[in-house]
Amino acid sequence: MIETLPIASISEDCRLAFPTSKELSRAWDLGIFYLRLPEGLHLDGAREFGRGLLDVDSPYRKLPKYGDLEGFIALENNQQTKLALCRHHWEQHYPADITQFGRELDQIGVAVIREVLRQSGIPEALWSRASGGYAAGEGTAFLNFVHYDTRNPDLGLRPHTDYGFVTILDATAVGLQIKIAGDFVDVPVLPGHLVINFGEALHFITAHSERSVGAVVHRVLSQKYSDPVRHGIVYFANPDLDGMLWQFDAKGEVKGSSSVQDLFTLLETNLTEDR
Ligand SMILES: [Fe+2]
Repeated sequence: MIETLPIASISEDCRLAFPTSKELSRAWDLGIFYLRLPEGLHLDGAREFGRGLLDVDSPYRKLPKYGDLEGFIALENNQQTKLALCRHHWEQHYPADITQFGRELDQIGVAVIREVLRQSGIPEALWSRASGGYAAGEGTAFLNFVHYDTRNPDLGLRPHTDYGFVTILDATAVGLQIKIAGDFVDVPVLPGHLVINFGEALHFITAHSERSVGAVVHRVLSQKYSDPVRHGIVYFANPDLDGMLWQFDAKGEVKGSSSVQDLFTLLETNLTEDR
């Protein structure tokens, strides 16, 4: 168990703020922190919507699949079952208040990535290009409603890093663990807070800057109890899959680049080799 993760908040001018620079440093080193729930975030309605998906007759379980990543998805190799939709499908399929909730998470995602880029020293004029548009409100995002099917007792969610920029998590049950110095430690549920972690794409675009961030390795323990069902809301801030990512230094010089597809393919290869 870690003592506690650093706690950030969103300031009135929509910036990510930590109480001290030491706390920000800890967050940047760990790659994960808590965010105090911003005022006005429609979390209760989103949680209720997510719980509604546990009903096997929920119409949302019949949404069309878009590729492997979107739709109502039950994976065979772990306990996770989810309704996953990318930003440009929200309006079409989610209720209006859930789409609105997604937009509110977009604002949090932008605030987080802009603070990471601010700390990185990369000139602000390059933030949008570096992030495949995400820092300027473009790019893409997934808003997923997840639960764990305890009829399959074997695996929770195996150790991994997230591929995108930033992940925002609302979890109300224990199970999330992060790897620190070789050991997995619990991330306790802190009521009134979201959990935010950095992903590989954010590591990539800050790698040559004055302050890079790392993607935290995490897992979810196998859920053994049917009551309460572990249920969570996950938002992924991502670059467009067909876009480019650029690595700048603090002088604004290009130090490298990759198509998003190539980066994600490389990560997938590394993951497979690690198994
Ligand atoms: Fe993850």
